[in-house]
Amino acid sequence: MVPAWLVLLLLGVTGCKSDPVDGSVLYRSACARCHGEDGRGGLQTQPGTAPPRDLGSPTWQEGVTDDQLREVLRRGRGQMPAFEGTLSPSKIDAVVAHLRTLRRPASK
Ligand code: HEC
Repeated sequence: MVPAWLVLLLLGVTGCKSDPVDGSVLYRSACARCHGEDGRGGLQTQPGTAPPRDLGSPTWQEGVTDDQLREVLRRGRGQMPAFEGTLSPSKIDAVVAHLRTLRRPASK
């Protein structure tokens, strides 16, 4: 029989993990509606404004640094909102890391 204190301890430990900084979850809730799950979704926000670019493009990914990505997320750009007020620096880092996973192989 497992002692009750052990059960509570384990629940407590897993409970802490329910607030993870998961870049893919953040991306899906904050970014995918404009950029699409895979980053390709160039949903035009307003006629006459720049649509979101293809975030999976290997050429674009190569030319952009993590610092530049953090900057865009913090400040926003064009029709894209700034996330400085809604995402903490560690969450922004997690989303930037997720953006890197959207990169497609160069041949495609
Ligand atoms: C309301 C729609 C919208 C949301 C939500 C949004 N974006 Fe954007 N995003 C845009 C648009 C539109 C642009 C192009 C802006 C421009 O260049 O004028 C853009 C540009 C970008 C760029 C810059 C690409 C470049 O040209 O260098 C990155 C990176 C990016 N978004 C990532 C994200 C991430 C990550 C999130 C979630 C935290 C997000 N966006 C949320 C609409 C959105």
